[in-house]
Amino acid sequence: MDEVVAFSVDDTVDLRRSILRGGDPAAQIIVDGDHVAGCFHRGVRRNGVPVATATAFPCPSPDHDASAPWQLRFMAVEFDLQGEGLGRMVLTDVIDEVRRLGGDLLWANGRDTALDFYRAMGFTVVPGSAHLSPATNLPHHRISMDLLP
Ligand SMILES: CC(C)(COP(=O)(O)OP(=O)(O)OC[C@H]1O[C@@H](n2cnc3c(N)ncnc32)[C@H](O)[C@@H]1OP(=O)(O)O)[C@@H](O)C(=O)NCCC(=O)NCCS
Repeated sequence: MDEVVAFSVDDTVDLRRSILRGGDPAAQIIVDGDHVAGCFHRGVRRNGVPVATATAFPCPSPDHDASAPWQLRFMAVEFDLQGEGLGRMVLTDVIDEVRRLGGDLLWANGRDTALDFYRAMGFTVVPGSAHLSPATNLPHHRISMDLLP
């Protein structure tokens, strides 16, 4: 039975690199947000191996005037396990934790190929936010979710 648990940043790095950076050994996969006070990581292990992960940390939104905004980063599920509900499990846990910590907005730069996943999770795509990621050069839009009760 899969269970979402707290991850360290070290638990996240292999998935970040393989799923989100094409396995590039030179990709920068630890970012400033990992050092922000309050940053946390969640994930799922199978047979002791991380197979899904996400990270969240306090960060102002470029689009919304929230009082306690958080950014979601590095949402990734092992290739051959995608579409089985692990992404939903991990992201639901992250949303619950950000809400528990008093966050009133969760936002992210979402890959265009993942926007339907984020819509299914209740995020809104920010109009006019299309951009290419500086890290990957892939098309993205910003997404956000209002966490106010
Ligand atoms: C995007 C990703 C995190 C989603 O995780 P997942 O485990 O594959 O998704 P789930 O199986 O939990 O799906 C949750 C919901 O999103 C929907 N969904 C997931 N991926 C989708 C897609 N590409 N297109 C349309 N809907 C999608 C599912 O149908 C499901 O909806 P439902 O629960 O209403 O039936 C995962 O596929 C992944 O790691 N992709 C590659 C890396 C990536 O793009 N990460 C995001 C970077 S911004």
